Parts: sequence; structure tokens; C-alpha cells
Amino acid sequence: MAAKQPEAVMEKLVSLCKRRGFIFQSSEIYGGLNSCYDYGPLGVELKRNVKDFWWEWMTRRRDDVEGVDASILMHPRVWEASGHVEGFTDPLVDCRNCKQRFRADQIQGTACPNCGKETLTEARQFNLMFKTHMGPVEDDASQVFLRPETAQGIFVNFLNVQTAMRRKVPFGIAQIGKAFRNEITPGNFIFRTREFEQMEMQFFVRPGTDQEWFERWREDRMEYYVRMGLRPEKLRWHQHGPRELAHYARDAYDIEYEFPFGWQELEGVHNRTDFDLSRHNEYSGKNSLSYFEESSGERFVPFVIETSAGCDRTVLTLLVDAYDEEEERVVLRLPPRLAPVKAGVFPLVKKDGMVEAARDVYERLRKVHKSFYDEGGSIGRRYRRQDEAGTPLGITADGQTVEDGTVTIRERDSMAQHRVKVEEVTGWVSRFVEANGKV
Ligand code: GAP
Repeated sequence: MAAKQPEAVMEKLVSLCKRRGFIFQSSEIYGGLNSCYDYGPLGVELKRNVKDFWWEWMTRRRDDVEGVDASILMHPRVWEASGHVEGFTDPLVDCRNCKQRFRADQIQGTACPNCGKETLTEARQFNLMFKTHMGPVEDDASQVFLRPETAQGIFVNFLNVQTAMRRKVPFGIAQIGKAFRNEITPGNFIFRTREFEQMEMQFFVRPGTDQEWFERWREDRMEYYVRMGLRPEKLRWHQHGPRELAHYARDAYDIEYEFPFGWQELEGVHNRTDFDLSRHNEYSGKNSLSYFEESSGERFVPFVIETSAGCDRTVLTLLVDAYDEEEERVVLRLPPRLAPVKAGVFPLVKKDGMVEAARDVYERLRKVHKSFYDEGGSIGRRYRRQDEAGTPLGITADGQTVEDGTVTIRERDSMAQHRVKVEEVTGWVSRFVEANGKV
């Protein structure tokens, strides 16, 4: 395997993502928009598979988690209650000389990291929420926020979900959706952006059982990433110290991944206590977000264990984890279950009935699995293109196919080849994908 330089890996990955249609710079023809990205044909499939995997793991596999899909715009009081208006800030400093902005907690010393001059302003608190206006009048009364986390859409719906589904505590509510943060220092490709998707779950428990549930969810979430197919040695826990804890958290651990730019947070698991529900009770004046436990005859405000994963960040993690260079090829070793395309289908050459045979296989297969038909260029080049796209299987119709109705299936990782009857290809691919990453 060729040596991998950490910085070079990110550069090569960004270039591969563009070349193969995973991720493009947003508004590229206008010079791009800082830290905004568009998912291309392969990227959107990969991201969708990540969301499906999460949804399957968090909701369908269990019987104690329901789903919701709340709106991005919420009543502005939500963000007062949640503490975001007051406390969702980063300390910001400006350089008077070069006009660059930095997060005060990320600079060492007193000089500007860009121009080196001692011309930094005092730090001031900068709120990360994006603001907009609802309706035709742009005044303070019409100001609303783009949600900076999806969690609040779950909290305010606690009672709706609990009563509609006749749920007993403990149970959870899961959601996937966009969140927006006006980050001062976005970067590292899709690692930190201003618009991103979260996959969050709030698990409501009886006070006093929160620590036990916190431990159970921590264990479950680490298992999830391993089962997803990430290399376990690249994953670790980081517990938040008192100064790192968010305003709502009693205890918090991050699952970190070792990116080419260092160990960084992939997901947070938080014990949010009864902070959010109690605050919404107070700010709404309704006192409705509580639970009556029949078995004990007690009413209480549930405590919340939160698992909060970034969808785009998971996509980046999968790409980084999968990227590999060999002498002859660049290969994305994406877990088959998550790979955008499951199989490339090729005629060996464009003659002697091989095109028809390959198209027949493709037509059967694509009804069940996302597949890609390609007859352009040498067979070697077609394999290489699919290796770069992370496609786990390559299926080739050759001279023998026309004679005995079998094709060759080549595995991306081992390059092992199997001879399989055309009628059995779809079943073979299904078994392969299931065996390599079933929830
Ligand atoms: N509701 C809790 C919460 O939002 P967080 O640690 O601020 O907690 C959770 O965010 C996850 O969301 C992070 O672990 C990360 O995966 C993702 N995330 C946060 N900010 C992000 C950003 N600017 N760009 C991409 N993903 C981000």
C-alpha cells in the first residue's frame, strides 16, 4: 500500500468526491459559497443510505423509539427556553489589520494567526443562530431562527407523541433533519459547515434511572459505528470536562474518530437532565411536558438522554475510513450496505452478444439494487472507475456468458472472482450486501 500523507489524503478525497460525483462545491460557477456543499448522484445515495442505516438502527430495530419530522422554523420563544438565545455563542475576535475573524478559544498567544500582527480586538460573544423574518414585515417581532439543533422539535412534541402513541416512559423520539449554525471557523470539507443534517434521538426516562440509560446508550452508539463498518481502532470516547459541557448537560461524551486532521467529534451522547422539558414548561406557561406514571402514582418531568450524530460528518467519516491507495488503483472500501452503487455491470467487449447479456443482468439487478451499467473503455478502466466510486461488486458478461448463461462477479476488496448463473445474480448480490452490514 502506498504511504498516505494525512493532508494529502483530504486533498485527494475532495478531488475524488468531485470527479466521481459525490460532493460538489455549492454555487461553484459563481466561485462557490464558503462551507456550503452539494451532494451529487453518488453522494446523495451514500447520504441516504447513512440515514436509512441510522433510522433502521434507532427506530425499526427497537420497539421503544418513535420518529418525528419537525419544522425547521419554530416559535422564537423555543430558543429563549432552550438557552440558545442567551448561551449559544462563541467568543469571536477580529483582526484590525487583515480583517480576518477567529474563535478566541482557538488562538494561542496575542498575535493574529493570519498576518502575525498584534492587532486583535477584545473577544466578544457571537450568537451562532441564523436569523430570518417571517411574513412581509422585517421587524423584531417577526424575527425567527433557523434551528441550530433538531432536538427542540422533539422536546416540544414530547406530550403529542407520548399521548398519540400511548407510550410509557422510558421511550425515545428520533428525528433526522437540517440544522444551521453560523460557525465562525467552518472547514475541513464537510466536517464543519453552516448548514448540515443531524440525526438525533431523545430518550425520556424516570429521574434516577438516567445514569443507567446514559451508559446503555453510550454502549449502543459505539456498537452502531462498529457495525456500520468503521475501523474500531479509529474510534474512541472523549468525556467533556466541566468547561466543555453544554449549558444543558450534566454529563457528556463524544464519540471521536481519527480524521487525517486529528481526533474529532463524530457524535455526542448527553445527559440533558430535565433541563429542556422544565424550561419549556416554564416559558410556555403550560406546564404540560410531564408524565404520570401509573405504577407509582407519581407525576414527574422526565430526564433526557440524547444521542446526537452529524449526518454529513458520518458521510465524511465513511469516505475517510474507506479511502485506500494501492499500486494500481485508488479504492473506496465503503461498507457494501452503505455503498451508493452495489454493482457495476459490464460487457467484456461490445460484440458477440455480450452487450445484450450484460444489459439483461443489469435490468434484473437494478430492480432490487442500485446498479450501474457501463460499456465505455477497457474493462480494466471500468473496474477502476467503480473501485473509486466504492462499488463493492463488478459483474462482467463475457464469451462464456453467451454459451452457458453465467457471469463473473468480482469483489472490489479481495478481487476474488465467482462464476454465477444469470438468474442467480440478484440473489447472490442480496446475500453479499446483507452479509456485509445488516443492521
Ligand atoms: N442536540 C445536541 C447537539 O446539537 P452538538 O454536539 O452541538 O450537539 C451534535 O452537535 C453533532 O452534530 C456533532 O457531533 C456533529 O456530528 C454534528 N455537527 C454539529 N455542528 C456541525 C457543523 N457545523 N457541521 C457539521 N456537523 C455538525
